[in-house]
Amino acid sequence: MEDDKGCRGHVLLVPYPSQGHINPMLQFSKRLASKGLKATFATTVFIFNSMKADTSPLVGLDTISDGYDSGGFAEAESIHTYITRLEAAGSKTLSDLIVKYQSTDHPVDCIVYDSILPWALDVAKEFGLVGAPFFTQACAVNYIYYLVHHGHLRVPVESLPVCMPGLPPLELRDMPSFIYVAGSYPAYFEMVLHQFLNTDKADWVLVNTFYELEAEVVDTMSKLCPVSTIGPTIPSMYLDKRVEDDIEYGLNLFTLDKSTLITDWLRSKPPSSVVYVSFGSLSSLGRIQMEELAWGLKQSGFQFLWVVRASEEDKVPKHMLKLEADDGADHDEKSEKSLIVNWCPQLEVLSNEAIGCFFTHCGWNSTVEALSVGVPMVGMPQWTDQTTDAKLIQDVWEVGVRVRVDEDGVVRRGEIEGCIREVMDSERGKEMRRNARKWKALGREAMIEGGSSDKNIDAFVSKIKNRRA
Ligand code: UDX
Repeated sequence: MEDDKGCRGHVLLVPYPSQGHINPMLQFSKRLASKGLKATFATTVFIFNSMKADTSPLVGLDTISDGYDSGGFAEAESIHTYITRLEAAGSKTLSDLIVKYQSTDHPVDCIVYDSILPWALDVAKEFGLVGAPFFTQACAVNYIYYLVHHGHLRVPVESLPVCMPGLPPLELRDMPSFIYVAGSYPAYFEMVLHQFLNTDKADWVLVNTFYELEAEVVDTMSKLCPVSTIGPTIPSMYLDKRVEDDIEYGLNLFTLDKSTLITDWLRSKPPSSVVYVSFGSLSSLGRIQMEELAWGLKQSGFQFLWVVRASEEDKVPKHMLKLEADDGADHDEKSEKSLIVNWCPQLEVLSNEAIGCFFTHCGWNSTVEALSVGVPMVGMPQWTDQTTDAKLIQDVWEVGVRVRVDEDGVVRRGEIEGCIREVMDSERGKEMRRNARKWKALGREAMIEGGSSDKNIDAFVSKIKNRRA
């Protein structure tokens, strides 16, 4: 690795301030730094102050402001207010940051920004810099939003199924939730459509996927904008060593439960015997749904490791679980078979051989992480891109099943139990596991030297390095 002075080219990376957006961009920053660029990760003041771990020594840290330095998003009246203030304060402080680096040995050459912050491209262009949106979600999902933004797909959808290159026919429930439930979360819907407001000015369009996973959609989108697939942004993929060695260089916004407790517990379990359950950093299940989930997990008869964020904990049925004061975790009362934690090192857990399946909300990071370590899934999507991800998981990559929702909007315990059994213990489940291993190998190939994503990253790095030559 070249030292700071030897670095040619400085990239400032600006994530959207939430866990699911920070994780992939931080990994991408590390990748750029490992290839000799100077990478500075500029998150909001509030996120910076909330960090629960150091980032990689490879990556510099700096801040911009979202206008809510002491409380972040939670302080805002609404998502609309937050986004408006983030744009105003963010544009100003990002400009200040660029000016600050102008008088150093490392003036900024390029801004890589989360695609839901399109104003960052305007700032980059004002300073004559290279600008590249970073899309955290599947290329298929981006393509759907692109079509809506440009008026090629009308919402509400008039004719079903929707047919697109590289995808099976999509019913309404397979579309991103903002389309599926027309009129829901208008501010979020506008935010994802606005990703394409100014992409015509972007020098690169970076997408956290890999070519082999979404080849036809990537080819289609590449005709519309300069798409470059750079994923999966998974540490072990490019460092070519076990995830555990790198995991500490994450940036957690939640307090990790004792890692040794989880690891020790997993170590005591046979291979492929445990169901890992997590709904990511944002999703919140209703009380009835939580109860159904708890019973479904229990009825499946498999041991489970369930992440329940502290804010959700009071919804876990008390009669099933008791608090173990000693280690801060909850154990299944009767059999001591299962474990509930508030937050865990997910990649480390997923890559443990005890994990047999991932019961997931199908957030894109969780999906890519499971594919990258070869774990099949039960998908219980909640909103946003997760509904489409669930369709891809089940019908395109064939690495999992999607739960069926009752007419009253709840996924019942019998359905949860049945889906877990299918993935953990059926012929079809074995096929899913084989497919998951295939995607794991393809994902790794994409990221190792000479792979499709690695070549794209090299091309990007080379352009930035030679910008001033
Ligand atoms: C959100 C959206 O919901 C998601 O659909 C979108 O693609 C990105 O933004 P989130 O809901 O948090 O993200 O889900 P996901 O994309 O899966 O990201 C969660 C991240 O948190 C993953 O990287 C996962 O490894 C990490 N995680 C989760 C932990 O490190 N520990 C945990 O205990 C749970």
